[in-house]
Amino acid sequence: MIRTVAVEGYRSLHDLVLELGALTVVTGGNGSGKSSLYRSLRLLHACSTGALAGTLAQEGGLASALWAGQRRRGPVRLRLGVQHGPGHVRGRLADDDVAFGYALEVGLPQLGTGSPFVRDPEVKAETVWVGDAPRPRDVVAERRGPSVRARDADDAWVQVPRDPDPTESLLTELVDPLLAPQVLLVRERLRAWRFYDHVRTDADAPARRGSVLTRTPVLAADGRDLAAAVATIRHLGGGDQLAEVVDRAFPGSVLGLGGTDEHATVSMTQDGLQRPLSAAELSDGTLRFLLWAAALLTPRPPALMVVNEPETSLHPDLLPALAHLLAAAARRTQVVVVSHAPALVDALGADADVPADTRHVALGKELGETVVAGREGPLDVPAWHWPGR
Ligand SMILES: Nc1ncnc2c1ncn2[C@@H]1O[C@H](COP(=O)(O)OP(=O)(O)OP(=O)(O)O)[C@@H](O)[C@H]1O
Ligand SMILES: [Mg+2]
Repeated sequence: MIRTVAVEGYRSLHDLVLELGALTVVTGGNGSGKSSLYRSLRLLHACSTGALAGTLAQEGGLASALWAGQRRRGPVRLRLGVQHGPGHVRGRLADDDVAFGYALEVGLPQLGTGSPFVRDPEVKAETVWVGDAPRPRDVVAERRGPSVRARDADDAWVQVPRDPDPTESLLTELVDPLLAPQVLLVRERLRAWRFYDHVRTDADAPARRGSVLTRTPVLAADGRDLAAAVATIRHLGGGDQLAEVVDRAFPGSVLGLGGTDEHATVSMTQDGLQRPLSAAELSDGTLRFLLWAAALLTPRPPALMVVNEPETSLHPDLLPALAHLLAAAARRTQVVVVSHAPALVDALGADADVPADTRHVALGKELGETVVAGREGPLDVPAWHWPGR
């Protein structure tokens, strides 16, 4: 599992190192940097899908994402790093014991190159290593500006002849199973992260429309295939757990499926009603809870599940049931929950099923910079080493 995440120069995350547990709960006041942390994890994931430039562009370009405060050292750069394992989550494959790390540094492109894409990020440096730190002998692939090299099967450095796309990561630019198999391994690990953030539940939300009944082990990020995801959970043996979760949240209610194969929708039979209500008729909070249930009870758990403010539009009464869902998910996969709601954090604390390796990170802000509450000095910061520049 992911042990450590490091972010530097990204919005209010001027210099942040976090250790993750099987379940990591991140809280903090408005503007403390919770969403920035969520987005920085998304950026790391984007490195593995070739969407780094596009993801940064969507949030206004690199210039807006770079830390706007004073730098303590070095040029204005955005750095992201992650250290994986060793150690494993219960029930996961043995090869999860592989330890590896990845670090990326992006900055603004040099002016005067004639490129019209002055808002695009430029990857300045990148390092992939196996082992628990980027020691020179453990580095397996490296990029310094346009120069890329990788270690071959005999451990000798080989210069990669092709110039990489300056705006995208080596994880998608160096795809060579013979020359750099570990780069592929790291790419696959980061690619297997999954994110859910404010799934729409308004009147026109995709989740309110029906979906074709097709095998759907992973709920779409916008929830449009809720009915198919529910059908898949039931088909693959998760029906009892799903029913239990729904009953815990809405005592006496029963989740069902209605419509046709081409236009299936979830439905809820509720106490006192003569007919089940379809997705279009459910309240925002009810629909949102069902979306969380379908997302978190996925029959195909990701390597890492990151959820942003899952409590949004849920009544406090539902938070214990949501906490229970999150705890159950964290027993099958590593989970990061970014939350606004102290009540959700309390409910997670009270849930008997939370994994032993649960961490609570409270973010705060000092002089515009995100800080972790309770850290007194440098000794309290988890170990992290950026690769040499
Ligand atoms: N480029 C930047 N440099 C420094 N700070 C920035 C930059 N861009 C945004 N910020 C600030 O970073 C802070 C963190 O924002 P973020 O959205 O992560 O907060 P949050 O904890 O999710 O808050 P909320 O609970 O309101 O959603 C905000 O105060 C924002 O103004
Ligand atoms: Mg936020």
